[in-house]
Amino acid sequence: MDKREFARRRKKLMDMVDRGGIAIQPTAPERLRNRDVFYPYRPDSDFFYLTGFPEPEAVLVLVPDRPQGEFILFCREKDPEQETWHGRRAGLEGACEHYGADDAFPISDLDDILPGLLENKERIYYTMGRYQDFDQRLVGWLNRVTSKGRAGVHAPDQVHSVGHYVHEMRLYKSREEIKTMRRAAQISAAAHRRAMEVCRPGLYEYQIEAELLHAFMRHGSRAPAYPSIVGAGANTCILHYNENSEQLADGDLLLIDAGCELDHYASDITRTFPVNGRFTPEQRAVYDIVLQAQLAAIAKVAPGNHWNDPHQAALEAITKGLVELGILKGRWRTLLKEEAYRPYYMHRTGHWLGMDVHDVGDYKIGDEWRTLEPGMVTTVEPGLYLSPTIKGLAKRWWNIGVRIEDDVLVTAEGRDILSHGAPKTVDEIESAMQFASVA
Ligand code: GLY
Ligand code: MN
Ligand code: MN
Repeated sequence: MDKREFARRRKKLMDMVDRGGIAIQPTAPERLRNRDVFYPYRPDSDFFYLTGFPEPEAVLVLVPDRPQGEFILFCREKDPEQETWHGRRAGLEGACEHYGADDAFPISDLDDILPGLLENKERIYYTMGRYQDFDQRLVGWLNRVTSKGRAGVHAPDQVHSVGHYVHEMRLYKSREEIKTMRRAAQISAAAHRRAMEVCRPGLYEYQIEAELLHAFMRHGSRAPAYPSIVGAGANTCILHYNENSEQLADGDLLLIDAGCELDHYASDITRTFPVNGRFTPEQRAVYDIVLQAQLAAIAKVAPGNHWNDPHQAALEAITKGLVELGILKGRWRTLLKEEAYRPYYMHRTGHWLGMDVHDVGDYKIGDEWRTLEPGMVTTVEPGLYLSPTIKGLAKRWWNIGVRIEDDVLVTAEGRDILSHGAPKTVDEIESAMQFASVA
């Protein structure tokens, strides 16, 4: 991402923080996986959104109108021995030169310097509750400033959530962000196609997962955006199944919910297809209902519509479909009002997508569902999960779990389906799988 884009974001936030305010955003801590081995590091999304700075142990401070510079970055100093063992560091000079900081200080000096920056400020912009160790330190710094009251030093007496402001900004994707998200979705769509091509009875779910990861990484993604869900047969009815350990049986469906993260942006795609490449009549009937629901919901993704409109469209199609299948009996309008679909469809139809897979941004403003606007990205992901645990469900429907999920950008004209490259209709899926078995 262009350095100027990070600078634009800081400027926008700084305009909101204004004189008398100070914004503080630490990055995420490293987390131990076992003994002395850490989980792969990923910076805090808000911190990275404002800085582009990838290292752990760093804190962004924005002080509008500070004469010596408004953008301060605390980070690790250069250290040849540490860098030989653990990798390169930008250091204080790099923080200024490559990341645009006006001033950079060693992270080890945070306790000495930060209280001074808080002096005589009126408002702190900081997200409480995300990093509790840091919350404690901030309280300590504030106490230090407060204790200087008799010396005429004024301590800030308001804390606003910086997250609230940054999340509003993150909800509207810029041209560069859309470019990255489109690429992430393309890579993931190609991975889903690849999974369809290699799939056959006898393979294990983790072997399909391996194909997905291979497809992600060879195109520059360093990690999935969330643990991949690769579930066949009964596992299609477990929404967040990710053991991915069972063998694929002839006649079963396979549900894959997997998306890569590319340059800190997520994609999130689900496709469901038959392990042997041919839908049974029951599988096809259920699949087509979910597809109709998904298409109806996607059609409602348009500027001016409300956040909830796609969900309502999906619920209507799902309820009508369940009546058509004979699984629900009665009038669809009544059944919809009674939420009779719930045992079969128990989640919502989408969520914001961005740096985080379940991205930030309010869904309601006051009591009203939010209006969709160009630049927002949402998933559209209805499903039906016909589990044998549902009382009275005829056996022919058992273990048919279907979810179809795409990543959809709201545009001025309507919508743009970023993940369109993954086969989706019954014909597209069967031909992708057939072509592969012949080839
Ligand atoms: N992959 C998680 C979700 O679809 O929300
Ligand atoms: Mn998903
Ligand atoms: Mn999703």
